[in-house]
Amino acid sequence: MHGPHPSLAALVRLSTLRAPAKGWVPGCGSGHDAAALAGEGFEIEASDISPTAIQVAQNLYGKVPRVKFTVADLFEKKKAGFDFIFDRAMWCALPPGRQQEYLKACWENLRPEGLFCSIAFTKLSKEIETGPPFEISKKEIEQQLRGKWKIVQMEVAKPPELTPFILEETLVIARKQ
Ligand SMILES: C[S@@+](CC[C@H](N)C(=O)[O-])C[C@H]1O[C@@H](n2cnc3c(N)ncnc32)[C@H](O)[C@@H]1O
Repeated sequence: MHGPHPSLAALVRLSTLRAPAKGWVPGCGSGHDAAALAGEGFEIEASDISPTAIQVAQNLYGKVPRVKFTVADLFEKKKAGFDFIFDRAMWCALPPGRQQEYLKACWENLRPEGLFCSIAFTKLSKEIETGPPFEISKKEIEQQLRGKWKIVQMEVAKPPELTPFILEETLVIARKQ
């Protein structure tokens, strides 16, 4: 993608988030969504394990106010008390065996009642047999979030046109319990 996800604005609208809430974008890639969120007035920390991705993000958006890009492994992040986390294609990029560990890292880095906001791949084309990315069905989302999270919104979004292997994406907002 060459810009912010087309459903990012809808996701923010559906949430109770108001600027200048503090957000984390783990696995930010080229930083399009992180920069768009900063453009909405949020204070954004965006990180990726890939130095190349962060270099691209810096080149594109390094001068955007309120966004800081860092090379970091999300699993090593110290507890940070963010108001929200924005996830797109990070949860779904991890193999099923690591997804709970990812949600735990997100949980630990949110303040009490902080929001986990995700655009999740709920249906992928059969050609993506082994992943990544990995499909997480709506039922699996509910199962994975049961206990430590309260789902406050779950709504099917229109997938971006440039990625035909994504058949369905779902906007998910879950509150830390
Ligand atoms: C599928 S890309 C998604 C990028 C971006 N969120 C987007 O929607 O375009 C997944 C990103 O997660 C990053 N990543 C994978 N494992 C990670 C980890 N342990 N910590 C931080 N970033 C990681 C990869 O380098 C990659 O940029």
